[in-house]
Amino acid sequence: MTDRKQVRLPDLEAKKRRGEKIAMLTAYDYTMARLLDRAGIDIVLVGDSLGMVVLGYETTLPVTLDAMVHHTRAVSRGVQRALVVADMPFLTYQVSVEEALHNAGRLIQEGGAAAVKLEGGGASVEATARLVEAGIPVMGHLGLLPQSVHQLGGFRQQAKLEEDAGRLLADAQALEEAGAFALVLESIPSAVAEVATANLKIPTIGIGAGPHCDGQVLVSYDMLGLSQDAVPSFVRRYTDLGEQVAAAAQAYAEDVRACRFPEASPRVDADLVAGTK
Ligand code: KIV
Repeated sequence: MTDRKQVRLPDLEAKKRRGEKIAMLTAYDYTMARLLDRAGIDIVLVGDSLGMVVLGYETTLPVTLDAMVHHTRAVSRGVQRALVVADMPFLTYQVSVEEALHNAGRLIQEGGAAAVKLEGGGASVEATARLVEAGIPVMGHLGLLPQSVHQLGGFRQQAKLEEDAGRLLADAQALEEAGAFALVLESIPSAVAEVATANLKIPTIGIGAGPHCDGQVLVSYDMLGLSQDAVPSFVRRYTDLGEQVAAAAQAYAEDVRACRFPEASPRVDADLVAGTK
């Protein structure tokens, strides 16, 4: 039975110290968020992956801050226990630290998120330090950075070369020092994630980064079988909701066309007729 106590930042570092794994999934709406929260998921991420799985774009780049605020608000209404983290979309934190602060503030104030997530090292380290100073918890994100998909030449594994792995480990350290409370490691070799996890005091949350991270995250639509396009090879499908939804919709359409739904209910119909007198 999952502890129903609200998940707070110190709980995550405590989990790392105790060697307890952290479970994180994405949600984009109230109903899914309620279900994930009921299931005892520790962190619900309103990922900008919403651009791809919910809005049908090919990348996360078209996602706007207004869209993130809108979806974060819906998710926050559905969550009682989990920590709600909202992604800062492309170009909402890179232009200046002031803009980053203002935009992160909207996700917290209007969206109801408890924390925000920023991709990358470098300029994101400075923004992280400023947000943390202002009381806004920040989750970092290194490795495959979907917002830099064009620069990376596609959605492909990162930090395979020693030099790149070294840069990632340095960025991870810098983000921890800037005050990030956790770090997503996406699509990197398991051995690199293992070193990062051992080096850091803050928890690492892996996606396509092997089993050594302090927690794991997946895009919920992928693990539920709702994504209709190809999913990354590291995804485990726990169910096939996509097939179930299509089959249920087909059965409904057949019933409607064959006049099997709705059934005539003599009592209700009689009451309705009586009511019109
Ligand atoms: O947007 C997202 O869903 C993410 C996860 C893949 C970590 O950033």
